[in-house]
Amino acid sequence: MSGEAQQAHWQSVYQDYPHMYGETPSEPARYAAGLFRARGVRAVLELGAGQGRDALFFARTGFAVHAIDFSAAGLEQLARTADRDGITDSVTTAVHDVRNPLPLPDESQDAVFAHMLFCMTLSTRDIHALAGEIKRVLRPGGSLVYTVRHTGDAHYGAGIDHGDDIYEHGGFAVHFFGRALVDELAAGWRLDEIHAFEEGELPRRLWRITQTRL
Ligand SMILES: C[S@@+](CC[C@H](N)C(=O)[O-])C[C@H]1O[C@@H](n2cnc3c(N)ncnc32)[C@H](O)[C@@H]1O
Repeated sequence: MSGEAQQAHWQSVYQDYPHMYGETPSEPARYAAGLFRARGVRAVLELGAGQGRDALFFARTGFAVHAIDFSAAGLEQLARTADRDGITDSVTTAVHDVRNPLPLPDESQDAVFAHMLFCMTLSTRDIHALAGEIKRVLRPGGSLVYTVRHTGDAHYGAGIDHGDDIYEHGGFAVHFFGRALVDELAAGWRLDEIHAFEEGELPRRLWRITQTRL
């Protein structure tokens, strides 16, 4: 499935399910907020923010947030909730496909958060380029917390095989991560932690990776 087809898919999913992931922040976002606060971070860049359960949580807990996603529908819902909650001053959004360079200056960000974005329909090459872009926009000492479904997930190997460890199931194509890819993406960074956890009813089996820009 092409990236364009996945973008159209996410648009329609968010239009059909305005509360797809609910409003409760994810566990990785709670962890990241604690880490970022301890590291003196004030502004968070969230990639693949979707409808904003985590971006809005960061904003409510005192961070400025810039939320990026390639689904305008998701970001519109995020912005509406920010408006409802009176936190629009803390939230900005940008529709952007992370297969393209991030529209941000070098060393301009303190912290980046991405929950289940790296494991979307991105080739291994796209994923390396994305990690490179995050490194470019982070300040030295800046933090990256990202999560991915991994090869221990029940859906790994199920559904339509698109190659490059990408499998499509129920219209969603997922790039399942092996440990080697995590290590490759941490080359030139300090790898702080790889934490295994589960989310949802399937359950999805994920890793939460924390790494620091040297
Ligand atoms: C599994 S959802 C997770 C959403 C959100 N992080 C959350 O946990 O609620 C993945 C998100 O990544 C976005 N996405 C997928 N591929 C993308 C791409 N190439 N560029 C930007 N956003 C993308 C989708 O639109 C979707 O919002």
